Amino acid sequence: MNALDTITHRAGQLQPRIAVVLGSGWGGLTEHIVDAIQIPYTELDGFPQPTVAGHGGTLWLGRIGTQPVAVMSGRQHGYESGAVDGMAVPLRTLQALGCHTLVQTNAAGSVRPDMPPHSLMLITDHLNLPQRSPLVGQAGNDRFVNMVNAYDSELHRLAARVAKGQGATLFEGIYAWFLGPQFETPAEIRMAQRLGADAVGMSTVPETILARHLGLRVLALSMITNFGAGMSSETLSHAHTLSQAQEGSARASRLLADILAALP
Ligand code: HPA
Repeated sequence: MNALDTITHRAGQLQPRIAVVLGSGWGGLTEHIVDAIQIPYTELDGFPQPTVAGHGGTLWLGRIGTQPVAVMSGRQHGYESGAVDGMAVPLRTLQALGCHTLVQTNAAGSVRPDMPPHSLMLITDHLNLPQRSPLVGQAGNDRFVNMVNAYDSELHRLAARVAKGQGATLFEGIYAWFLGPQFETPAEIRMAQRLGADAVGMSTVPETILARHLGLRVLALSMITNFGAGMSSETLSHAHTLSQAQEGSARASRLLADILAALP
């Protein structure tokens, strides 16, 4: 059975309208899902398959407030195999299921001295620094996707309003994609600053391109887990990213749940 048939069968009456991708630190969102149905990616053809036993992803279906959602806990990164189209089948499947909006989350490094760890940032635009595209090899004129307003300004105004209502500070900025998996050099962080970036990370951009190709509206949020390399004395590591993300997780997930519930 293909992934769409599997999900449709398991979803029953539920018709998800918002697709969500959870990055590091955002896993707490699943606690806000009611009537949750969980489908491991191992049951979904074309979804990212675990490379380490017990570390697979899960698709969650359910409601947040009254909003029917499909939440992907676990994404494929470009640094895993070099391919940057690992999220093509999942996003196409969720669009075919009826989703019209993609909400993305990630952990990122700040390159702005005034945006410290534990800040939350709405992504307003991106820099595709590796200049890799998940659309390479596609045919047809719709591959020439317009990337103006790729991060939907109406959705991000709505998210900013929800944050203000909660008394939460939400920065806005430009996300620069680095392929990874190594962290940046201090010289690369200075380059990103000069190019106008506010945050750096290793995900999100390929999915935004795929989503725009599919006609999905995109909203994206970064949780800042560290300053960019060379900006502070801390040593960057994956463990450091995860521990910082854990600390901010509950607050970020609550904000995200309220934003999801308020989306059109
Ligand atoms: N660089 C790249 N990706 C990241 C970082 C960083 O500093 N922090 C969290 N994800």
